[in-house]
Amino acid sequence: MADALLTNARLATLDGPGYGLIENGALAIAGGRIRWAGSGADLPAEHAALPRHDMDGRLVTPAPIDCHTHLVHGGDRAREFELRLQGASYTEIARGGGGILSTVAATRAADEDALVATALPRLDALLAEGVATVEVKSGYGLDPATELRMLRAARRLETLRPVRICTTFLGAHACPPQTDPDSYIDDICLPTLHAAHAEGLVDAVDGFCEGIGFTPAQIARVFDTARALNLPVKLHAEQLSHTGGTALAARYNALSADHVEYATEDDARAMAAADTVAVLLPGAFYTLHETQAPPVAAFRAHGVKMALATDANPGSSPLTSILLAMNMGCTLFRLTPEEALRGITTHAAAALGLTDCGRLAPGLRADLAVWNVQNPAELAWRIGFNPLHQRWLNGAPC
Ligand code: NIG
Ligand code: FE
Repeated sequence: MADALLTNARLATLDGPGYGLIENGALAIAGGRIRWAGSGADLPAEHAALPRHDMDGRLVTPAPIDCHTHLVHGGDRAREFELRLQGASYTEIARGGGGILSTVAATRAADEDALVATALPRLDALLAEGVATVEVKSGYGLDPATELRMLRAARRLETLRPVRICTTFLGAHACPPQTDPDSYIDDICLPTLHAAHAEGLVDAVDGFCEGIGFTPAQIARVFDTARALNLPVKLHAEQLSHTGGTALAARYNALSADHVEYATEDDARAMAAADTVAVLLPGAFYTLHETQAPPVAAFRAHGVKMALATDANPGSSPLTSILLAMNMGCTLFRLTPEEALRGITTHAAAALGLTDCGRLAPGLRADLAVWNVQNPAELAWRIGFNPLHQRWLNGAPC
């Protein structure tokens, strides 16, 4: 756990309203935690002897957090990309046995080493843009052995790279072929959740509430089990149609409702009351040629926290750039660059139930990104350009 003093930095603390910009800033780190952040001129004498790192005027932000990914999976879906370009819809491909189920077949065929090996380059792409924390879901196994293997592979990533991984059980992602959805939930999904939890592999529980996924009543059974195990919940909700998933998520005080293109003003009200974060996933919106944007104005009006994530997955969002997710959030959903930065830091932390990261404030982990930019809006502005200078995890550059 490192000690350090960053000097001559432009700090975007995101602590309080706006960017929380501090010019000529200094940031003191001890034991991997931020001890003090402020103007260099006000640095308390007790921190002056820490090992110094001159930032040369660069912008320093909390390290990005990718709070929604399906990073671990077998196979690819490039063929479906071609089919969609010929006019097939995501839903038609799914109903025809492709989509999520084609990745399920490829994931079942992959052993743990193969799942880790294929996830690593995708993880490295995220880390190259400063990401320090990545959420990874199961959900391409839909049987006990493969769901557990996916979660073990996700956890192994943390031993192979300097990164924090949060694992989410997504057994209720799709129904395996020739299986009745209610029996799948009761006989496979819930026992698998118990087994994964017993092995310490579950940080949160997710589901896909949709016509091609599960009904609110079926998801409620998964959430009841999560609650009995004391696990937080989140939900893929209102992505392709309005099915009531967001209201259900709010009723269970979910950490987040994700996608939410078809959410209504009432949903926004319920989410605000439950402090459920809206995780916006513009990569999926873009890939599926969706035309209905999430109700950003209603989220703003009701004070719903908005996070942004890649949704990195082989089907609806083959995206492994958090910076492009920010740009798409602004261009496609009209977020401000400030909302986009908050969406991949403070609000992404909230979507994962993490209270120790996402801002530059005393007591929080010193997970930082140092950028070769002056103005924070530059992070969301460019397309396909990576201005990262340095990534810090737990108070050390890595
Ligand atoms: O977040 N919506 C459901 N799950 C994923 C898609 C997974 C897939 O197409 O493989 C999503 O978009
Ligand atoms: Fe997803």
